[in-house]
Amino acid sequence: MKKYTNISDIKNFSKAIQEALHLKKNPLEFSELGKNKTLGLLFFNSSLRTRLSTQKAALNLGMNPIVMNVSGDAWGIEFEDGTVMNTSTAEHIKEAAAVVSQYCDIIAVRAFPTLTDKAKDESEQVLSSFVKYASVPIVNMESATAHPLQGFTDAITITEHKKVNKPKVVLSWAPHVKALPHAVANSFIHAMQSMDVDFVITHPEGYDLNPKIIGNTPVIYNQGEALKDADFVYTKNWSAYNDYGKVLNTNTNWTITKEKLGAAKFMHCLPVRRNVVVEDAVLDSNSSIVIEQANNRTFAAQWVLKKILEDLK
Ligand code: CP
Repeated sequence: MKKYTNISDIKNFSKAIQEALHLKKNPLEFSELGKNKTLGLLFFNSSLRTRLSTQKAALNLGMNPIVMNVSGDAWGIEFEDGTVMNTSTAEHIKEAAAVVSQYCDIIAVRAFPTLTDKAKDESEQVLSSFVKYASVPIVNMESATAHPLQGFTDAITITEHKKVNKPKVVLSWAPHVKALPHAVANSFIHAMQSMDVDFVITHPEGYDLNPKIIGNTPVIYNQGEALKDADFVYTKNWSAYNDYGKVLNTNTNWTITKEKLGAAKFMHCLPVRRNVVVEDAVLDSNSSIVIEQANNRTFAAQWVLKKILEDLK
């Protein structure tokens, strides 16, 4: 594997899931593979799970992870070509990516969207610039439009917990106080479209996601109808896509409750706002698998790093 910027970089998805589950049982089996190799983790935005699980994955493979909070600690990076850099940015991505490539064998990047400039977000300016100007493989730790480490993790978790061959999986929008990105929902959709599941999306009107990502997946605006007989309820807030980045609805009628969940398992990428997105009674019950889901972040990242290490020259 030469990079991991999208779920589609995984060529055989079901095989990858099984291999990741094998790594979970044998986390140190390949602890020599990454010896003397360095993983650089660059964060333009906050993180708990991605930061720690990706480092843990690198350590399990014998790699040396090094981490930088780019927004807080590095020079301001310029991403536009031909800019006269006489304002706030001090270093161009051309130099920054080339320099970091000399220190690292793999570079992982987290850079969220603006949620104000749709065209810029959809161009994936930060991630694409690293792919273009770095000379080593790039891993996406959540970009403007995708969170493929999370989507892969979610597929692993559903495979691990499913009780029937073809479970019903519902992606349900839930309210939130802030405008949130589409990346997690996009990659979850991509992952579910790559699996043998009965997959449905539900959200209030006005929250339709990118139609190119939705494809033929059914969208139901009635949450109760969508949740009927679900085996897994994956809950996530996102801001409007058409009315780009806007919060149109904070209606707590969409909060996930124990009653709505029924016999289904509850999933969320975390962090989650209790009693806004989902009530305590769900998170504090055996129906919630969010902690196991977060644990699987390590093995999703470990599978990705292993595949890239195996292909390094
Ligand atoms: N789910 C997830 O990516 O968590 P963090 O933002 O804490 O990394």
